[in-house]
Amino acid sequence: MADRIAEEKIDQVRQAVDVVEVISDYVQLKKQGRNYFGLCPFHGESTPSFSVSPDKQIFHCFGCGAGGNVFSFLMELEGISFQEAAIKLAAKVNIDLEINFSASGGEKRISNELQAFLNAHELLRKFYHHLLVNTKEGQHALEYLLGRGFTRESIDKFQIGYSLNSWDYVYKFLTKRDFSSEWMEKAGLIIKRERDGTYFDRFRDRIMFPIFDRNGNTIAFSGRSLGADEPKYLNSPETAIFNKSKILYNYHLAKPSLKKMQHAVLFEGFADVIAADRSGVENGIATMGTSLTDEHIALLRQSVQTVTICYDSDKPGIEAAFRAGNHLNNGGFQIKVAMMSDGLDPDEYIKKFGPEKFRTEVIGASLTWMAFKFLYLRRGKNLQLEGDRLSYIEEIIKEISKLNKAVERDHYLRQLAAEFSLSLDALKEQQKQIFFTEKRLSAGKSESVKKPLLIVKQERELKPAHYTAERRLIAHMLKNREVAYKVQDLLAGNTFNFDEHQAIITYLLGFYEDHLEPDSSAFLTYIQDNNLRRMVANIEMMSINDELSNQELSDYIKQVLNYQKLLKIKEKEVEQKEAERQSDFSKAAAIGVEIIQLRKSL
Ligand code: CTP
Ligand code: MN
Repeated sequence: MADRIAEEKIDQVRQAVDVVEVISDYVQLKKQGRNYFGLCPFHGESTPSFSVSPDKQIFHCFGCGAGGNVFSFLMELEGISFQEAAIKLAAKVNIDLEINFSASGGEKRISNELQAFLNAHELLRKFYHHLLVNTKEGQHALEYLLGRGFTRESIDKFQIGYSLNSWDYVYKFLTKRDFSSEWMEKAGLIIKRERDGTYFDRFRDRIMFPIFDRNGNTIAFSGRSLGADEPKYLNSPETAIFNKSKILYNYHLAKPSLKKMQHAVLFEGFADVIAADRSGVENGIATMGTSLTDEHIALLRQSVQTVTICYDSDKPGIEAAFRAGNHLNNGGFQIKVAMMSDGLDPDEYIKKFGPEKFRTEVIGASLTWMAFKFLYLRRGKNLQLEGDRLSYIEEIIKEISKLNKAVERDHYLRQLAAEFSLSLDALKEQQKQIFFTEKRLSAGKSESVKKPLLIVKQERELKPAHYTAERRLIAHMLKNREVAYKVQDLLAGNTFNFDEHQAIITYLLGFYEDHLEPDSSAFLTYIQDNNLRRMVANIEMMSINDELSNQELSDYIKQVLNYQKLLKIKEKEVEQKEAERQSDFSKAAAIGVEIIQLRKSL
């Protein structure tokens, strides 16, 4: 790709951007004291352990250990290189990086290939759209869409198109424009015939829905057959630019309203997203025919707190809504579930009852997650029958037991008591029993995925004293150049006991050679190793006193050196035993003297 960017330019960018502002584009941050907190975008969690320091211009997650500065944040989250992150940030603050884009080996070739993928998709999106709206060949497809209730407006907004009923139109179209057939096959646009190595078009005689990434690039297509041809929807295969498990349909267009409303409506299909959009529900998104993944959840977390699940109200739809809801619930979202009568899907509902009713009686009247679960558990049961009734009540109490707030538990228990004319006390008693049984069961199972903050903290507290001492020393050395040199002197040629710690201070002393002032964010760029960078971000976030007294300093140094002396003593004791075994008593006595001296110096 690009040549190296000048050091001063990087410094300039780092000083101009604000880490809080950049991260806010992805994470909901709340100020708490000097720092900001939010849900970590790098792992699933429901209590915030992700923190950002505006003073130090760095971030750190106490849950998963992710940490770094504004550059590494973008690199890790978007999976891009340092240079790409620098280019993005520079654009944000209008700094010209003055990069010399000269061809440079392999990297350039790969990037050309991806660029060709994107260019071909862009070109085809326009071409397919043109065929649909302007040509005789596309007229029957346009009539099909209008007949289904699509408007011209949404056909333009979603750039819907039509692919010709031809085996090689797109193949010729692309090769004529110098796109390599090999690359276009890899991009999923054409398919190679086994028998003779010739190519044919993947999409033929289908309504074409372009799939956009979050930046608005066309990265794939989904083609719907016009009649009853199977498959109903034919998607692009997974390619270097298209990964189904990361893409949410319409995320790119919906993003502003998602952020503004802090709310997304999740649909099963994109016909539903488009119909909802036409009805004034602009915050709709859908997966690409797959179930919700962790990556989808992380993407949603960047812009919303509430998700309304609006799946088809048939049996598979309700099952899928239950699974999606559980997944979102673990991700810490507030969840609602919208239901429609007669097993309709949203698109059909809107056609039958109109936009107004869809907004108010479906989206507006959606159930809380708990109310949906009540309904879900009730399906297929006949509550007139005692057996069904009792198992329903038990299942509900299990769900109630999972609630963290006593008030909520009380609320639903009362509801249950009223509905089945039961004594509230008896229900409460049973709920407690279930709670403790479930707890015992889950204690036996492997550790839960969500590791609460407390456990992470305890793990750290179990570390030995010299570990903590070294971390505290590093924390002070990061803050103060003088202290860094002082520690170096006091160690008198000895090293820290943990290799990572020693590596960090070696980097740090190198950094102070050319930087007169400490600079947390600049130092993180200076460190080449990702693991060390995370450790430094973690240490930076420790709270320490502003001043380091001489007493405190020498205590820490003592702990570091004492550990080495203890090791030495152990070593000597082994030597002494060995000397005694060989009956070399004068040697054993001499070692004994050394041991006594070492002990004294502790
Ligand atoms: N899907 C798919 N392949 C199929 C069928 C469905 O990838 N053969 C995906 C599509 O992403 C579709 C979603 O699953 O948007 C929902 O499928 P379905 O409910 O069957 O489609 P509808 O949204 O109802 O589409 P239509 O109204 O056009 O029938
Ligand atoms: Mn449908």
